[in-house]
Amino acid sequence: MPDRKRFFLTTPIFYVNDAPHIGHAYTEVAADVLARWHRQAGDDTWFLTGTDEHGQKILRTATANGVAPKEWADRLVETAWKPLLDTIDISNDDFIRTTDARHEEGVAVFLQKLYDEGHVYAGEFEALYCVGCEEFKPKSEIVDGTGAFEGEKVCAIHSKPLELLQEKNYFFKMSAFQDRLLALYAERPDFVQPASARNEVIAFVQQGLEDLSISRTSFDWGIPIPWDDTHVTYVWFDALLNYVTAIGYGSDDPATAAEFARRWPGNHLVGKDILRFHAVIWPAMLMAAGLEVPEHVFAHGWLLVGGEKMSKSKLTGIAPNEITDTFGSDAFRYYFMRAISFGHDGSFSWEDLSARYQAELANGFGNLASRVLAMNAKYFGGVVPAAGEEAEADLAIRELAASVAAAADARIETFAIHEAIAEVWRLVDALNGYITEQEPWVLAKSEADRDRLGTVLATATEGLRALAELLHPVIPIATAKLWAALGAEATLGALDAQPIREAGRWGRLPAGAPQQPLAVLFPRIEVETQ
Ligand code: ME8
Ligand code: MG
Repeated sequence: MPDRKRFFLTTPIFYVNDAPHIGHAYTEVAADVLARWHRQAGDDTWFLTGTDEHGQKILRTATANGVAPKEWADRLVETAWKPLLDTIDISNDDFIRTTDARHEEGVAVFLQKLYDEGHVYAGEFEALYCVGCEEFKPKSEIVDGTGAFEGEKVCAIHSKPLELLQEKNYFFKMSAFQDRLLALYAERPDFVQPASARNEVIAFVQQGLEDLSISRTSFDWGIPIPWDDTHVTYVWFDALLNYVTAIGYGSDDPATAAEFARRWPGNHLVGKDILRFHAVIWPAMLMAAGLEVPEHVFAHGWLLVGGEKMSKSKLTGIAPNEITDTFGSDAFRYYFMRAISFGHDGSFSWEDLSARYQAELANGFGNLASRVLAMNAKYFGGVVPAAGEEAEADLAIRELAASVAAAADARIETFAIHEAIAEVWRLVDALNGYITEQEPWVLAKSEADRDRLGTVLATATEGLRALAELLHPVIPIATAKLWAALGAEATLGALDAQPIREAGRWGRLPAGAPQQPLAVLFPRIEVETQ
């Protein structure tokens, strides 16, 4: 068997202080599209997501709700975070909680190793802390408050007052890794993506790195420091380690340890709010422990509300099911992946969603599929028509399919999901134009054009076959319906087993294979607009 490419992909693990909004769903969908694509390509893929449950933010929320923090976390995980994955069809292979024993054990192993090898020291510290970020803020993110917080220092992201904390902490000697980090960014220009994120990270590290406080003593909701249980581990130090504890780091079971060797290093997809943690602190931690740094860190933009980041703490979130209840999960996935340039900020609007649903999914793709299948049924008794001699227009479609399939795969490699979809959509548009120009309903009127009719519909049908394969990672439900209707399930096997890197190869659907009627893929939706 040839060597399979490895692809380990993660999302952030989300705070369980509140239920998810479409910003969290956005990260999940993007990761899911990448994971499904790589899986369908035959790569050795592992897709991890989960929840971040320790620290002051969760403790305060639980306390305010009159329950213990673990009980609060259990409730939110079961009623909100795991159900989100069903709502938007996420195909994760694992779900880690930072309260899992496997995680807590791995964190202790990691900390002890850093301590034993001299990367940790005890010290004293006073600085401004943002509980929203769970971070001592750098100067660049401390701003003057306005309105109710006039005269106070607030967090640039959360717009809430910072708290002056003074504690005895353990520190990680992060400053020692400054030069190695800068060398990493220089040697591997695609380590941090997109370029804007990379530049921001380099500028930050060039200003000089300080050591990192990695423990807290004023509360106990966290993982105890293994050599001093009067301290708990700083929540970010704990959380970042999920990426390795989930795949077996620190385990003394040989099979679990082998799993770690197979999966690591990973690719991290995060929002730009937490870029620094992933592109600076995390690689420094890994270097200290003698582990490989991640393959890539990709920071996507924010979904904005009124020009600001949509947020749980500002209560500006829209629940994902508000959208999926009306439009379905495929439309949710398609819309956010297509309408926002991945890596840039974007705004959600009901008008834009409705317009794209109607124009692109219903009229563009859905209609194409239903017209071609209806003509196959009407003119060829519901089987895949046989192609005759190929004319220039048919050749153009075949060549376009091959080129968009290759281009889409290349775009996925660089995390440019919106561009990958745009490539595939060139084939949707071309096929619609092809049908209009070839006028199969006119060809069908004359027996002399019977061969030509077969070639045109065979070409269009093969185009749909390619589209089903290429769009399956984005709109899994609609493409599965199309796949069954094309008669492909019975002849080519399961859709998610089709090698996506060969989707552009022509002539795979055998002539004569029976097809099924196709239900409307994207039904008309009446939206109330006020
Ligand atoms: O930061 N637009 O968790 P979190 C786009 N627990 N994405 C958004 C978004 C928005 N408006 N709002 C949230 C944490 N996100 C830590 C992470 S990882 C080791 C620990 C997404 O619940 C985006 O992915 O605050 C962002 O980075 C993440 O949710 C932050 O989630
Ligand atoms: Mg946050």
